[in-house]
Amino acid sequence: MYYPEDVIEEVRNSSDIVEVIGEYVQLKKKGNSYFGLCPFHNEKTGSFSVSSDKQMFYCFGCGKGGSVFTFLMEHENYTYPEAIEHLAERAGIVLPKQEMTIEQKQEQDYRAALREMNRTAANYFYKLLKHEHGKRGYDYLRNRGLTDDTIIKFGLGYSDIYKDDLYHYLKKKGYTDYQLRESGLVEINDKGAYDKFWNRVMFPIVDMNGKVIGFGGRVMGDGEPKYLNSKETVLFEKKKNLYGLYQARRSKRSGFILCEGYMDVISMHQAGFDNAVASLGTAYTEEQARLIKRYRDHVYLAYDNDGAGIKAALRAIDICRNVGLSARVISMKPYKDPDEFIKNLGKEEYEKRIDKSVSAVMFELQVLSDKYNLSDPEGKTQFINEAAVKLSLIADKLERETYVEAAAREYSINERALKDKVNKTGAANMVRKQYKEIEESDKKLHQREKEKEKDGGLLQEKLLLTWIANEPSCREQVFKWVSPEDFSEGLTRKIAVLFDKQIKDKGDINPAEIVDSFKDVSVHSEVSAILNAEVYFDGEQENDAGIRNQMKSKAITETVLRVKEAGIDRRMKEIMDMSCSKEEQNTMFLKLMDEQALLKKLYITFGNG
Ligand code: UTP
Ligand code: MN
Repeated sequence: MYYPEDVIEEVRNSSDIVEVIGEYVQLKKKGNSYFGLCPFHNEKTGSFSVSSDKQMFYCFGCGKGGSVFTFLMEHENYTYPEAIEHLAERAGIVLPKQEMTIEQKQEQDYRAALREMNRTAANYFYKLLKHEHGKRGYDYLRNRGLTDDTIIKFGLGYSDIYKDDLYHYLKKKGYTDYQLRESGLVEINDKGAYDKFWNRVMFPIVDMNGKVIGFGGRVMGDGEPKYLNSKETVLFEKKKNLYGLYQARRSKRSGFILCEGYMDVISMHQAGFDNAVASLGTAYTEEQARLIKRYRDHVYLAYDNDGAGIKAALRAIDICRNVGLSARVISMKPYKDPDEFIKNLGKEEYEKRIDKSVSAVMFELQVLSDKYNLSDPEGKTQFINEAAVKLSLIADKLERETYVEAAAREYSINERALKDKVNKTGAANMVRKQYKEIEESDKKLHQREKEKEKDGGLLQEKLLLTWIANEPSCREQVFKWVSPEDFSEGLTRKIAVLFDKQIKDKGDINPAEIVDSFKDVSVHSEVSAILNAEVYFDGEQENDAGIRNQMKSKAITETVLRVKEAGIDRRMKEIMDMSCSKEEQNTMFLKLMDEQALLKKLYITFGNG
């Protein structure tokens, strides 16, 4: 199972959430909390809050929240035990050997075997490259201009011409056919076992820790397919990884250069552009863009200089936009790709191309202009119309105007005329957008009303929990009046039970521990929303502390009262549904009515109020 609670608590206590998150997100102190740009959604103003008191984070924009463990699980894709292990190591705490269930042990062994097989295969391929059997691969790479250092840096290798040499090599190391098939390195059917890769130069793909998780293999000479890639495994998720990222993220250069191929990345690194990465034999994805955004705020697209490459670049621009990554496009003309460019014109010329890279918008206009014959008035008009649509979509006014100016100059369009057109198109966009927003907010309102009817009671319960989390001085009084049974069954009751227990056991509450006690991470945000909310009450702007406390008392007293009344109502209904004698029911009723009568005296005080 998992680590014992007291160990987890020790790790939590030694891992200040502000410090830990501060390693990933730039935080600024504001009041009692720290704020920064949310790493989980794309935003320009910081709605991501981290509370030092509560040891919790919560984003008011996207609603993600939780403890320091939740953060690492969501941000680094760690499992719960992995998050604990990471923080323990950071804090210098030695963890007890973990006791695992059989399934957990199997899962761990399964992953460990995958890792080892990949590592062993990478070594095997690498040794082969240096062996006379691998001469063909080695010569190939050297002929393509790679140095020995580069070959080592990327751990390149060669897979032999035999159909099953790797299979036998791994088999001798003790792996079962099942494991070998799972690794994707070997294909096994009724006729026998076949290495997936043969007679190819091998490009190991590594994860963020530099551990091999899969391969790309390029055929020697002409053959199909040109590149073969490992299948996806639990270690290797193509859309969540980038070739070269492990090396590139430490680069001192600004931004990343996003290329299409393995060889592009390698030649770029060799030429000193050690910030080059590529997506892995699949189209660039939004996950990859978000991955890049963790390290850099802009990318240079260095896609092939052909129809497919241009299309891919346009798609990549949209993807970058969606995650708030700024993109520029490098022209490789007259060469096909970065690899060929570097080989022919060298790195100084490439550096110049980076300097001359065009912004995403200008590139889009360029592609658009190629569709039309601009010397023909009709073609030019059509181009201007489409360009205006594109330009009108730029949200920032100053930026839009700058682009209008640049476009007018570049395509010899009258600037005033273009500006008018863009503004008109913009106005139409605006109306459409506003209409959509109204429609959406109506829909939301309707939904909220419906929820309110259903959840009116629940809202009060959540509000009360927020009060308890925020106001240490009221806790004891509140729990004198309400008990966990007053909360409706479900999340709020669970939290109330935990609060009650913590106060009894330790005389204080620990919101982060409550978050972590829910093993399902998807619940963490909901819990954080409750525990990390701000409570607003009439009179909080009041300068006089006495009056402010009185108003606060009134607000919380009302909340306690509502929860308590609803709780009593609910329990009365429950009694009626019970199958016990009339007398017993009566006694229970009377007890509840006593409780109800007592509520007249309910008053929660703050400060000296
Ligand atoms: P390209 O066909 O543009 O190859 O594929 P390249 O990088 O110029 O290759 P060289 O220079 O001839 O060696 C670009 C990328 O697309 C993926 C690979 O990741 C490759 O690096 N690809 C291409 C495949 O996955 N499979 C293929 O059959 C071809
Ligand atoms: Mn190439």
